[in-house]
Amino acid sequence: MKTIGLVGTGTMSTGIAQAFVQHGYPLVLVGRSDSSVDRCIAGVRKALYRLVSKQQLHEEEAEKMLAAINGGTDYDRLADCQLIIESVAEDLVIKTDVLTHIADVADEDAIIATNTSSLSLEALASLVKNPEQFIGMHFFHPVPLMSLVEVVSGLRTSDLTKVTIRELALKLGKQPVEVKDAPGFIVNRVLFPMINEAAFALQEGVSDAEGIDNCMRAGCNHPLGPLALADLVGLDVVYAILKSLQEEYGNPRYAPCLEIKKRVEAGLLGRKSGRGFYDYAK
Ligand SMILES: NC(=O)c1ccc[n+]([C@@H]2O[C@H](COP(=O)([O-])OP(=O)(O)OC[C@H]3O[C@@H](n4cnc5c(N)ncnc54)[C@H](O)[C@@H]3O)[C@@H](O)[C@H]2O)c1
Repeated sequence: MKTIGLVGTGTMSTGIAQAFVQHGYPLVLVGRSDSSVDRCIAGVRKALYRLVSKQQLHEEEAEKMLAAINGGTDYDRLADCQLIIESVAEDLVIKTDVLTHIADVADEDAIIATNTSSLSLEALASLVKNPEQFIGMHFFHPVPLMSLVEVVSGLRTSDLTKVTIRELALKLGKQPVEVKDAPGFIVNRVLFPMINEAAFALQEGVSDAEGIDNCMRAGCNHPLGPLALADLVGLDVVYAILKSLQEEYGNPRYAPCLEIKKRVEAGLLGRKSGRGFYDYAK
C-alpha cells in the first residue's frame, strides 16, 4: 500500500485522512466540491495543530502530513491508489453513484473499501468490478482516538483482501476485528439495543436519566452512560440505526423506545440541538 484514495469529506473522512497521513501514507482525497475538500483539509490541519500546541508533534511534521494530502474533485486521480475508501453519506443512492465512479477509474488490482455503518456490504460489492477485492473498513468516531476497525467481509471477499486490510489497520495503530456482513456488525448491534434498554428503563420510571447513566458508569466502568452517549451520537441517528436493525433482522426487539421517538419528533436531538435526554442549556 503506497497511496490511499479517500472519497468523502465529512466527519469520518476528516478523521480517516488524519489517521493515514499521520502514519506516513500519501492520500488522494476526492470531494464533491473544492470548498468541501478545503473544509476537510482544514479539519485535519486543526487537529494536527492541536497536537503541535500540546507539543506532541513538530510543526514541520504537521506541514509534511498536510502536504501529503492531494485534494480535488476529479475521480481520475484515484487510478494510482492501491486502496480506495468510500466514506460518503449513508445513503444507498449516493453510495451507488460514488462506487460506480470509483469502479470506473480504479486500478484492477486495487482494493475498494466502504466505511458504511448499516448498508449491506454484499449489495455494495455488486457495484464494483472485482467483489473479491471489496471489503468494509468500519472506523469509529473520532477516528484518530478510537482504536477499533471492524473489517467486514462479504461472501466474495478474498482472503488476500482480508489479510491486506488487517495488516494495514495494524500499521495505522488500530485494532482490526474481522466480522461478517450482518446488520450493525458487532458494535452497533450491541450498543444501540443497550441505549434502547436504558430508554425503556427511563420510560418505566426505574430511575431518572442521571441515575441510569450513573449505574452504567459506576457499575460497568463505562466512561459515559448510555443516555448521555445517545445525546452525543444524536437521537435522530440512534433512532435511524434502531429502525434499520429492526427492519434488516425483521425482529421487533430492536424497535426504538418511544422516549427516543418522541424526542426526535420534537427536534430534541441531543447535544447538537441543545436538549435530548439532558438539557445542555443548563
Ligand atoms: N459519524 C459516525 O460516527 C460514523 C461512524 C462510522 C461510520 N460512519 C459512516 O461513515 C460514512 C460517512 O459518514 P460521516 O459521519 O462522515 O457523514 P457526513 O455527513 O459528515 O459526511 C458525508 C459526506 O458525504 C458527501 N456526499 C454527500 N452526498 C454526496 C454525493 N452525492 N456524492 C459525493 N459525496 C457526497 C458529503 O459531501 C460529505 O463529505 C457513512 O457511511 C457513515 O455511516 C459514520
